[in-house]
Amino acid sequence: MLDLDAEVLQDYYREVIGWAGSLVPADPVIVDLGAGTGTGTIALARHLPGATLTAVDVAEEMLAHLRERAAEAGVGDRVRTVRADLDGEWPPLGPADLAWASASMHHLADPARTLGQVREVLRPGGVFMITELDGFPRFLTDPAGAAAEERAAAELARMRLEGGLHMGEDWGARLTAAGFELVGERRFEIELPAPLPPKAVEYAQVTLRRSAERLTDRLPADDLKTLEAYAESAPDRGDLTVRATRDVWIGRRR
Ligand SMILES: C[S@@+](CC[C@H](N)C(=O)[O-])C[C@H]1O[C@@H](n2cnc3c(N)ncnc32)[C@H](O)[C@@H]1O
Repeated sequence: MLDLDAEVLQDYYREVIGWAGSLVPADPVIVDLGAGTGTGTIALARHLPGATLTAVDVAEEMLAHLRERAAEAGVGDRVRTVRADLDGEWPPLGPADLAWASASMHHLADPARTLGQVREVLRPGGVFMITELDGFPRFLTDPAGAAAEERAAAELARMRLEGGLHMGEDWGARLTAAGFELVGERRFEIELPAPLPPKAVEYAQVTLRRSAERLTDRLPADDLKTLEAYAESAPDRGDLTVRATRDVWIGRRR
């Protein structure tokens, strides 16, 4: 799902990385915090050809996948991986021009402590770009499907809150409180119209199935069946769209 995210939301990645690139030197040292399968790492490496990158994640299987993808993308020589639990002591990662955290800050236990650690990793003047999302994208457009999808999204949001994830944080205020200069703050409303290209249809299928799996004990059986049925019929439907939101904050180390 993370890999498809990069493919489907290419325009968004181009734009947000263009923004990041405008704030750093031409040969930036970049640290991707909670890099996962490398969606951000690889997009950054492709769009910023002078960059060298360190991808950090707690999950070795994610990093193994990331290394493979980086090699396939021809950027493996500029990408190194570091396995680390960012809730613990950090290994040496800096000094960096850009720290990038996409959909990972909400996983970390203590935002204030993490922001302090990021400050230490950055050079003076270096920037920290935080991206967060409000949940999975939406795909269904007909009223019955869209209503089931909204109920699933609401339940997933409740699960995240119950799990103690830092969703809905005001990262701008957090950055300021941690001593960063808030350079920018922007909401990207992403919309891909119907008919979707095959990769986006696959993205819809994977996401709808993933939602149903996660919500097995938490949604009425009818809703679960509805999500499964839309996932199944997605390739034959011409009415799916992708609607996603990404919130981005940039802070500069003073
Ligand atoms: C939703 S994924 C986002 C991955 C990637 N940044 C992206 O945009 O596709 C969150 C990632 O944070 C990682 N993560 C969660 N808690 C972590 C921790 N304490 N230390 C390091 N990584 C962590 C997870 O393993 C996962 O790969």
